Amino acid sequence: MATKGSLVIAGTGIQWAGQTTHAARTAIEAADRVLFAVADPWTVQWLRGLKPSAESLPYASGDTPRRLIYQEMVQRILAPVREGLRVCAVFYGHPGVLHDAAHAALRQARAEGLPARMLPGVSFLDCLYADLGVDPGQHGCQVHEATDFLIRGRAFDVHSPLVLSQIAAIGNPGFFDAANTERIQRGLRVLSEVLRRRYPASHEAIIYEAAVLPIHPPRMTRVTLEALATAAISDVSTLYVPPLGPAPVDEDMLALLGMSSGDGTIRSTLGGD
Ligand SMILES: C[S@@+](CC[C@H](N)C(=O)[O-])C[C@H]1O[C@@H](n2cnc3c(N)ncnc32)[C@H](O)[C@@H]1O
Repeated sequence: MATKGSLVIAGTGIQWAGQTTHAARTAIEAADRVLFAVADPWTVQWLRGLKPSAESLPYASGDTPRRLIYQEMVQRILAPVREGLRVCAVFYGHPGVLHDAAHAALRQARAEGLPARMLPGVSFLDCLYADLGVDPGQHGCQVHEATDFLIRGRAFDVHSPLVLSQIAAIGNPGFFDAANTERIQRGLRVLSEVLRRRYPASHEAIIYEAAVLPIHPPRMTRVTLEALATAAISDVSTLYVPPLGPAPVDEDMLALLGMSSGDGTIRSTLGGD
């Protein structure tokens, strides 16, 4: 009887090896076929150390729409699963954070009745919480993909941290090209204008890049919103916009909950220590 293939989608974390969960590593080692889409050559080397036959998923450059490459990735991932192999598809960071192909492969496998699951991993957000000392339980945390944030006019709260990913690819459906400074700066200029409608121009944000190697420090460059358009960024830059102080407390709500503004429990109830 033919064996049924299966799919595990795993993440390496941002720092190869050190941030790869035990479950992800076990899934990589146990798979018949390992396919990967990761961001740096050290992770590739490490993966091939674990699984010498590991194959790279298709990558593209230039203006090929990302969605076309992702469709191709999904087909490459599913083909061996349909043949009855145990497949592990590996993405960098958390495989479910900003990886359309990972989610699409999972959905498609399940739609075809093939066993498929995703293992959580360490994403850039987890690194950001640690490096920038942000606790999402304190003032909340808003996370948006930068182009989506702009084109959908996402509502946001200036009293809660705002994290914007893919700021180097604003308005770019293709792949990151560092040489195309005109496109990169246009995107940042528009983002700066939109943010300055709600924050002061002098408000300082942080361009954040978690370290890929444990021997490197993370990048945490402060930049005022008015200077954002000309800031040096890379394809892994994330923008962190700190809140404009805590949100005012609703006295009517306090009363409804039987609390008072002098109540020492408010800070801890709202996420403080
Ligand atoms: C395609 S997404 C991949 C995210 C990844 N799956 C994760 O879990 O972190 C790429 C975006 O994630 C963010 N990102 C990726 N690597 C990063 C890093 N080392 N530091 C900060 N942000 C990063 C950037 O906003 C980048 O544009």
